[in-house]
Amino acid sequence: MELSVNIDHVATLREARGGTEPEPIQAALLAEQAGASGIVCHLREDRRHINERDVRLLRELVQTQLNLEMAATEEMVRFACELLPDIVTLVPERRQERTTEGGLNLVEQRELLRGVIGRLQEREIRVSVFVEPDLEQLETAADLGADIVELHTGFYANATTPEAVQRELERLLNAAEFASALGLHVAAGHGLNYHNIVPLCRIRAIRDVSIGHAIVARAVFVGFEAAVRQMLELIRYGRTLPPLTLS
Ligand code: PXP
Repeated sequence: MELSVNIDHVATLREARGGTEPEPIQAALLAEQAGASGIVCHLREDRRHINERDVRLLRELVQTQLNLEMAATEEMVRFACELLPDIVTLVPERRQERTTEGGLNLVEQRELLRGVIGRLQEREIRVSVFVEPDLEQLETAADLGADIVELHTGFYANATTPEAVQRELERLLNAAEFASALGLHVAAGHGLNYHNIVPLCRIRAIRDVSIGHAIVARAVFVGFEAAVRQMLELIRYGRTLPPLTLS
């Protein structure tokens, strides 16, 4: 399982003082040095953390894969078609939200998204769609020609009882296997941390995870490279456990 590191919250800290520190580009380079397979950033409409300058520098300097998260707006599609990230992840975006709150509704926005996905793919950008682990959404993702689905793991991350954790893991397993059988590359993310990553690694159909907040939070105490390495160690350990199967 590959780890992509989301560096948005390094920029959040910079913006707290409106200055130049800490530098999100430095975090990206350290994450790569520690073994991350990709760097993720979300250019939001309100530019609350990452800005255009960051994304342009990341495009120049990232040597693994640059994954740009964005809303499917005309402004963002044009920006991506000019910038040419390796991957675009389409996410829903609401101004008031503190972070992305749930998956895209592909079924409701089918025609808009078909056009956006086609335009990005014409520029040879791989397109990922961030969705709930819901079979109708996954069928729609395949129908729209998405390359990757990123399953929203927020409900799993927020589950507080062993029963709820198990139920959410099984929902993710079912969705990951279904998406994989449809020929989609399966990723997962949101709310993953050092405490909940290991059981998720037992879902073999999930090939990538995208993790931000937990790594940035730990980096404050142990440094960025160490925070990424610790996450990679847990992922490697999780992959040695028996695969999760549907009960
Ligand atoms: N994946 C997507 C699509 C996201 O929007 C986010 C949050 O920006 C993440 C993964 C990372 O979530 P977290 O910061 O909780 O690890």
